[in-house]
Amino acid sequence: MSSVVATTAVRGRFLDIQNTVAQARDIHDQVRYVEDGLLIAENGKIRWFGDWQSGQQHVPADVEVHHYPDKLIVPGFIDTHIHFPQTEMVGAYGEQLLEWLNTYTFPTELQFKDKAYADKIAQFFVQELLKNGTTTALVFCTVHAESVDALFAAAEQYQMRLIAGKVMMDRHAPEDLCDTPETAYQDSKALIEKWHGKGRNLYAITPRFAPTSTPEQLAKAGQLKGEYPDVYVHTHLSENKHEIAWVKDLFPEQKGYLDVYHHYGLTGQRSIFAHCVHLEDAEWDCMHDTDSAIAFCPTSNLFLGSGLFPLKKTWEKQVKVGLGTDIGAGTSFSQLQSLNEAYKVQQLQGDKLSAFESLYHATLGGAKALDLEDKLGNFNLGKEADFIVLDLKATALQALRQEHAKSIEDALFALMTMGDDRNIHATYIYGAAAYVKK
Ligand code: GUN
Ligand code: ZN
Repeated sequence: MSSVVATTAVRGRFLDIQNTVAQARDIHDQVRYVEDGLLIAENGKIRWFGDWQSGQQHVPADVEVHHYPDKLIVPGFIDTHIHFPQTEMVGAYGEQLLEWLNTYTFPTELQFKDKAYADKIAQFFVQELLKNGTTTALVFCTVHAESVDALFAAAEQYQMRLIAGKVMMDRHAPEDLCDTPETAYQDSKALIEKWHGKGRNLYAITPRFAPTSTPEQLAKAGQLKGEYPDVYVHTHLSENKHEIAWVKDLFPEQKGYLDVYHHYGLTGQRSIFAHCVHLEDAEWDCMHDTDSAIAFCPTSNLFLGSGLFPLKKTWEKQVKVGLGTDIGAGTSFSQLQSLNEAYKVQQLQGDKLSAFESLYHATLGGAKALDLEDKLGNFNLGKEADFIVLDLKATALQALRQEHAKSIEDALFALMTMGDDRNIHATYIYGAAAYVKK
């Protein structure tokens, strides 16, 4: 467990992306690679960053420098879509989305009305994020308010910046997992008052997806967003073709799936829609026009057989996108594994995903998708000091491959292809080491 340490100094090889970009081809120019660098964090924020030679004189005499000469230090990974209650059900066999929800997900989530159980899984979940180098996540809880309390309390112990919310769901699910439009509104409101902006916690209004909310409940979600404009909206969109057809049946008066959310005031700058695998052109335009963001979840889209997300289109249509693991439909907490699969998803569509673009999506691009690029995503001065120390040679095969790396880009690409939690040597949260690999 960590607490804010007043000053931390870290020396090593640093790599980040200096600025957000409008096009993938511009990322290369924003890559910042410091071979022998120094980062000084003070009270959780980056106070000094640059090369060791010019920076060493700024290290206070009583501060010990953490030196990682053979490692690579990058900004913490940002996971823009994950379900903490589904941690225990990763790798549930055989079904696509709608059957998977009924067969595996709902029975699992029923357990979270028990606060002690929610606490136990929340602890495990937060530690697993840290172990995988994920320093910020946008998280689904369950319908139970207790699950939100459990998660934020666990995150607070490490001073992690998490965004989370209680699921709103009042139909097409087991009775014990359903709320009502009114209780969803009241419970969410109380949770916003309790947690949003407390420490580094932020709240997301979280209707599960259009099929499990009545029009009355979506109207309540929209009312809440109107009352608290700076909280987030987090839901699922256009993941699976049967799901899309179902939404069209349930909401015949709306133009399409996204239009349901748009109609109820749920699109916008702090709205994040998981998946968006099968968006229609008008929906891409609506995503852009409302400045809404997508969470691209490659391991989940492949595991549930949902489809291939067209990442290139986010650049063409100028829609913000981050990377999500979508545990437990996703198969790994590691964003390195998400990137491994993201690359293959683009290959199957004839597109290329470079190592630097990958790093962008996992860090600064994710921060931008979450409207947090002023606080997270790179080593710019004043940002919050969340970063990770990567061991590029965690296995014999990785060591051999890295010895043959031709450039930092090649080394990074090999890491993203072969890497996982074994490559996370340490995770720093708000300037303090919250996880160190044993
Ligand atoms: N759509 C609605 N609920 C869920 C969920 O729990 N996981 C995924 N992947 N999609 C959903
Ligand atoms: Zn999901």
